[in-house]
Amino acid sequence: MTEYEAIFARHSVRKYKSDPIEPEKAAILRDRIEKINAETGLSIKLFLDEPGAFEGNKPSYGSFSGCRNYIMMAAEKGRDEDIGYYGESLVLLAQTLGLNTCWVALTFEKKAVEAPVGCRIYDLIALGYGQTQGVPHRSKPVEKLYKSDGEVPEWFLRGMEAAALAPTAINQQRFLFVYKNGKVSCKALFGPCSKTDLGIVKYHFELGAGRKLAELG
Ligand SMILES: Cc1cc2nc3c(=O)[nH]c(=O)nc-3n(C[C@H](O)[C@H](O)[C@H](O)COP(=O)(O)O)c2cc1C
Repeated sequence: MTEYEAIFARHSVRKYKSDPIEPEKAAILRDRIEKINAETGLSIKLFLDEPGAFEGNKPSYGSFSGCRNYIMMAAEKGRDEDIGYYGESLVLLAQTLGLNTCWVALTFEKKAVEAPVGCRIYDLIALGYGQTQGVPHRSKPVEKLYKSDGEVPEWFLRGMEAAALAPTAINQQRFLFVYKNGKVSCKALFGPCSKTDLGIVKYHFELGAGRKLAELG
């Protein structure tokens, strides 16, 4: 499975089997995490067989069971968008390895996870073999997720289709792409975690469109 194909296969999974993550797969994830940390200064770390973060289950939002592994997404303040962008690259990499995931900003046991010095924990990404593959989320129609000054090219629509499939906090999809004079921009609208969501949807858009947003602005 390619990372692009993983966009279609990925859904949030909150109930996990007890099967451990194989050392080869953990090594692939650690390798990518090391590269990202070195390039970006983020403090991402993989934790295996550490169920504590999902044992103080709060029923008000999401409901996890059997989750023993996670990726801690930490950084200094103000890195929300990078957390989303690089975290989603790990989510899709995990999916290509046959693993399931769920971004978690709220419903984990904060006391069980310690932030690295000078950093805050933005999110955990729950990780493992799901009891199911999850289900597709309800999405706003793609036309509601962008504005344009006329007809948009095929690659832009492929980017938007991928963005609509991206995970967002509480499935809020609080982002807006703009196609104007042949240029593309994207902004976060008001909502919880919407800056992290922005990084996530940008990563999806680029994979779908086959172009980097930095070259389209
Ligand atoms: C930044 C972020 C934070 C999230 N926080 C939580 C959370 O605290 N608990 C939870 O159960 N799900 C959480 N989610 C998962 C979303 O509810 C989920 O992505 C959304 O409903 C869309 O569903 P899908 O991921 O299956 O496509 C979070 C997702 C994102 C992107």
